[in-house]
Amino acid sequence: METIEAQDPLDELLTCRLDYGRKAVEPCTIVIFGASGDLTARKLIPALFHLFQEKQLPDPVRIVGFARREKPHDAWREELWGALQQFSRTKNIPPADWAAFAQNLFYCQGEFGDAGAYQRLKLLLESFSHESLGKNLLFYLSTSPSQFAEIAEHLSRSELLTRSESKPGWQRVVVEKPFGHDLVSAQQLNQELTRFAYEKQIYRIDHYLGKETVQNILMFRFSNSIFEHVWNRQSVDHVQITVSEKLGVGSRGGYYEEAGALRDMVQNHLLQVLALIAMEPPVSLEAESIRDEKVKLLKSIRQLHPSQVASNVVRGQYIAGQIDNSNRIAYRQEQKVNPESNVETYVALRVLIDNWRWSGVPFYLRTGKALPMSASEVRIQFKPTPHVLFAAQCGPRLDANAITLRLQPNEGIFLRFNGKVPGTSLQIRPVRMHFSYDSEFGAYTPEAYERLLLEAIAGDATLFIRRDEVEAAWGIVDPIRESWKNLKLTERELYSAGGWGPEAADDLMLRSQKWRKPHPLP
Ligand code: BG6
Repeated sequence: METIEAQDPLDELLTCRLDYGRKAVEPCTIVIFGASGDLTARKLIPALFHLFQEKQLPDPVRIVGFARREKPHDAWREELWGALQQFSRTKNIPPADWAAFAQNLFYCQGEFGDAGAYQRLKLLLESFSHESLGKNLLFYLSTSPSQFAEIAEHLSRSELLTRSESKPGWQRVVVEKPFGHDLVSAQQLNQELTRFAYEKQIYRIDHYLGKETVQNILMFRFSNSIFEHVWNRQSVDHVQITVSEKLGVGSRGGYYEEAGALRDMVQNHLLQVLALIAMEPPVSLEAESIRDEKVKLLKSIRQLHPSQVASNVVRGQYIAGQIDNSNRIAYRQEQKVNPESNVETYVALRVLIDNWRWSGVPFYLRTGKALPMSASEVRIQFKPTPHVLFAAQCGPRLDANAITLRLQPNEGIFLRFNGKVPGTSLQIRPVRMHFSYDSEFGAYTPEAYERLLLEAIAGDATLFIRRDEVEAAWGIVDPIRESWKNLKLTERELYSAGGWGPEAADDLMLRSQKWRKPHPLP
C-alpha cells in the first residue's frame, strides 16, 4: 500500500487549501456549564488541550468551569490532569505542556438557578487581564437540557449574554444534545433560547459533524465528477447507513431509558449522515447554503403515519449474549434500567425521499448497541447490470457495484466491482479498491470535539445544527415514537448481545436487497 512518503509531489501542489478564508480566532473565554460532568473530562478538556498544544486556540484564552460543587481552581486543574491522562488521544503528555495550559483554567462554583453565582462569574471574567477575555464569550452548556433555558436567562439577566448587535465582542451558546425530546419540546426550547440569543449565536452540537469522514462526504460528492454523475435514482439501487456499537449502555442507563436508540442516534447522527449523503449541491460553501440544503432534504423525507411504522421500522432490545467470547448482560439488567423496560437499543428503518433525485430509492438506516462490532459506514449499492452477457449466466451471483464510505474505525472508502479471476477458466468475482485515511495521510484523526470547538470559537456555524434542521429531524422520528408508545416489546424484537439485531430487520429490505455487514478490520 502506498504510504505518505511515497506520494507524488504533485499531490502536494494540487492541494487546494480552502480554509484560507477561515475566520480568525480572537481571544476569548470559554465557560463550561456542567464542568464536573463526564463530557468535560472525557471530551472537552482533552480537545481544548490538544488545540492549545497545536497552537490553534486564541492567545490569550481562558476556560472557566461552572458547576455546583465547591472547589478551588487548583483542585479542578488536578482533576482534569488525571482525566486527560486517561482520555487523551495521545499518550505521555509532557507535564510542561499541561502546566502551560492549566494556568488558563479557572473554576466558578454555583447553582445554575442562583443569580449570585452569575455575578461571581462576571467578576471572575472582569478580573482577566485582556479586555477581550471579558467580552468574547463562548458558553458551553453541557448540562441536562431542562437547564438550558434557565442558564441562558441568567446569563442574559447578568448581561453576560446579549442580543444587542452594538455591544462590543461576541457571545455564543453551544448546546449539547439531546435538543428536546420531541418536536414540541424542541420548538419550545428554541423559543426560549432565542429570547436571550439570536439564532446565529446558538450552536447546536451533533458530534458526528465534527468527524473527518463525515465532513469528507461533501468533498467526496462535490469535488469528484465521476461519483456525482451516478449519485441518483438512475444508478443507485439503495443506500445502507449502519452505525453499530459493541458497547451496551453501561452506566448511562438512566439517560438511555428516556432516550432509546431512536432519540439517541437516529434523530441526530443518522439523519445528519443521511442528509449529507443525499442533499443537493449547495450554492456555496457558506454555512447557510449548506444548512439550507440539509433542511430541504430532511423535509423531503416521507413522513410515516403511525399506522405505517410497523412495516417500515424495526426496533429491538438486547438480551444476554456474548461478544468476543465474553458474557454480556441483558439491557434490562443494566444499572438504572427498569427490569421491564420497553426501551429500544436497536432501530432499523426504511426511509424514502420524495424528491427528483431519489424518488423510489430506499435508504436503510440501522443502529444498535451490543452488536458484534463497532463500525459506522454508508454503503451506496448500485443497480445490477442488465440481464445479458455475464449477468445472464451468473444471475444474482454477479455482485452489483458498491461504494462504501467507512466513517469509523479504519476510516476509508472502498469501491467494489467485478474482475476476472486469473487463469484459463472464465471466472468472475468481486474485487475492491481501497482508499485508507491512515495510509494516505498518516494516522492523524483529531477528535470531533476539537474541530467543533474551534469552529464555535471562530464563529463558523457550518458544522452545527440550525433550528429548522433540528425541528425537521424531530418531525421524522416523532410518529415512530408515537406508534411505539404503550406497545410492549415482543419476543421477536429481542436480540442476543453479539447478534445483528432482530431478524425482522431483514424483512424491511425490498426486492433482492440484503443488509451487508460492515467490513471487518484488516
Ligand atoms: C452519542 C450517543 O451521541 O454517540 C451514544 O449518546 C453513542 O449513545 C455515541 O454511543 C456514539 O458516538 P461515536 O462517536 O462513538 O460513534
